[in-house]
Amino acid sequence: MDRTQVVLPAGAVRRQEEFTQRLAALYHQRDRQPLAMVDTYGCQQNVADSQRLMGMLRDMGCGFTQDPNAADVIVINTCAIRENAEKKVFGVVGQLVHAKEKNPDLIICLCGCMAQQEVVADKIKNSYRHVDLVFGPQALWKFPELLYGVYTEKKRVFSIENEHGSIAEGLPVVRESGVKAWVSIMYGCNNFCSYCIVPYVRGRERSREPADVLAEVRGLVEEGYKEITLLGQNVNSYGKDLDSPMDFADLLREIDKIPGDYLIRFMTSHPKDAGQKLFETMAACPHVAHQLHLPVQSGSSRVLKAMNRGYTREQYLEKVRMARAAMPDVVLTSDIIIGFPGETEEEAMETVSLIEEVRYDALFTFIYSPRPGTPAAKLPDPVSRAEKQVWFDKLLDSQNRISGELHHAYVGRTVRVLVDGESGDPVWPLSSRTHGGRLVHLKGDTSLVGQYIDVKVTGSNTWALFGEVQR
Ligand code: 5AD
Ligand code: SF4
Repeated sequence: MDRTQVVLPAGAVRRQEEFTQRLAALYHQRDRQPLAMVDTYGCQQNVADSQRLMGMLRDMGCGFTQDPNAADVIVINTCAIRENAEKKVFGVVGQLVHAKEKNPDLIICLCGCMAQQEVVADKIKNSYRHVDLVFGPQALWKFPELLYGVYTEKKRVFSIENEHGSIAEGLPVVRESGVKAWVSIMYGCNNFCSYCIVPYVRGRERSREPADVLAEVRGLVEEGYKEITLLGQNVNSYGKDLDSPMDFADLLREIDKIPGDYLIRFMTSHPKDAGQKLFETMAACPHVAHQLHLPVQSGSSRVLKAMNRGYTREQYLEKVRMARAAMPDVVLTSDIIIGFPGETEEEAMETVSLIEEVRYDALFTFIYSPRPGTPAAKLPDPVSRAEKQVWFDKLLDSQNRISGELHHAYVGRTVRVLVDGESGDPVWPLSSRTHGGRLVHLKGDTSLVGQYIDVKVTGSNTWALFGEVQR
């Protein structure tokens, strides 16, 4: 699709600001400041999207609450990646009927990946009549106009057209802390892995203009942000759709030139598009963390083919070797799906042997969940859930041992970390991350939040490290 049709004209975004102002005027007539609750499920992209929704709500004059009974507007930003995530949201939305009974003026909005699915929208339309507004990820930038419609037309609004998707620059944002920030560099996915719902709900791949990404990162660095995570469903596809193509490694090099004391992380990388150029760029750019989330999904080439992943086990392992040759200290993580339709025990054990071979620092592990509308959901799936659970537990046992061993190897070493927050734990009051992204629970003063410091690692477990500030 033509870029001029993908990047929204500034006028279209400004028109939304007019709706924001109209809503602000409407809210201003009330006897108190309206309160909004934004409830977010799923991935970092959703977290970033919610921060934009909060920016719009703030500009409408809203304060924020976590209490549904105190809220005037509730926005549930949903995830569709697995059935469990959807069940949870339906439970939450069902409960909100009580808040609406107490306060009939309450406006309830459902957005995100679940909302984009027709079956979900129909279910909400028919069985969850207390929900006022439903909109998919491609309509997020129009939230002020949609919400204004709910108030003025006094009817339920559904905006879930199956769109290619656009890019809206200049949306307001509320960021959670002054230390870490998310920056979306692209939206959508074109890969159509056979199990995945994302390409059906987040539209086609579209990259932000490099100048817009660079301006946002520069602004964040100038504001003092210390860790900036670049987001995309597959960041390695960045730039393919730009008029003057530039790839993700080129973008990293440009970002790295921005002066300052900060780290760049990114996710997610698709192994089929990650290669030597990316790994060498990461190694050469001092601001880029040596951290790679490289989801393999399966260790069986047969299953990988059925998943439409575009690489074999051997090709994947070769990429890992390349990454480690370029960055011997790279921290590697991955996503795994156990129990893809038709997967045999032998194939699942190939995945276990792959993780034994790679020795990831950590894994995100899932049991396959059929997503209606995806090709994999139509495949015969004869293996019982209980059997898949046995394979899954074997995978976890292996990974827990490996993570424990890798973490133990840190003990006694001094590492540089960014102190990123308070933990609430009186013994280990600070949380921090190594450059590779490993969690370090720390003893130290809360004034250290936002600083890079050297810490001595004094202990470890499967999930984290423990350390003390070096003096
Ligand atoms: N079932 C289980 N896991 C899934 N993922 C994506 N779709 C499914 C599904 N249908 C996992 C993949 C992906 C991660 C974000 O979620 O491992 O990388
Ligand atoms: Fe889903 Fe595959 Fe796209 Fe990731 S790359 S969002 S797993 S289709």
